[in-house]
Amino acid sequence: TGAAPDRAERPASLAALADAIAACRRCPIGECATRAVVGEGPDEGRFSGLMIVGEQPGDEEDKAGRPFIGPAGQVLDRHLAQAGIDRGAARVTNAVRHFKFVQRGKRRLHQSPTAREIDICRWWLDAERALVKPRIVLALGASAARGLLGRTASIARERGRPLPLDDGSELWITAHPSYLLRLEGAAREEQERLFAADLAAVAARLAEVS
Ligand code: URA
Repeated sequence: TGAAPDRAERPASLAALADAIAACRRCPIGECATRAVVGEGPDEGRFSGLMIVGEQPGDEEDKAGRPFIGPAGQVLDRHLAQAGIDRGAARVTNAVRHFKFVQRGKRRLHQSPTAREIDICRWWLDAERALVKPRIVLALGASAARGLLGRTASIARERGRPLPLDDGSELWITAHPSYLLRLEGAAREEQERLFAADLAAVAARLAEVS
């Protein structure tokens, strides 16, 4: 359908971007999800300069059509509040816009997107960044980092410091909140602490640039 995404013209508004993403079938995930989940954020003039990027919508996000409202979103919200970051003033979006899952009885189990699927969906993330123009981008997990860098990133090695992006903004990488949810005991405590430290660093940087 139409021109290849790299040659197609970028949508000129966030509303046009949302419509175009909803119709996207450039990878197979779009066929099975309920709907595309596009980014959400504040109205013009109220944007803090921060864009938060996750991996892909989960089961609840797919049903509701909003990013980070399920269990991972609750972990994220708790940490954002703790760091003093106003989620409502940030753009919250995902590297991949459709929920990828396998059906197991009544449950729909999350499946990680492939590098190829992330790379295909990257065109939308680039278009969204071009419209939103964030100063700081926070990537939650390896899929988000790939969607922004176009390469595989190591969370352990690359977290906690800014990486330059092509448009002059800075990328901060941290773990995905779902990763915290899969851990228990001391390992969970350690990762909660690292996640909190990463968000505190982003909050401090945000205060500097805004
Ligand atoms: N996990 C993500 O990466 N994004 C969401 O929107 C929800 C869960």
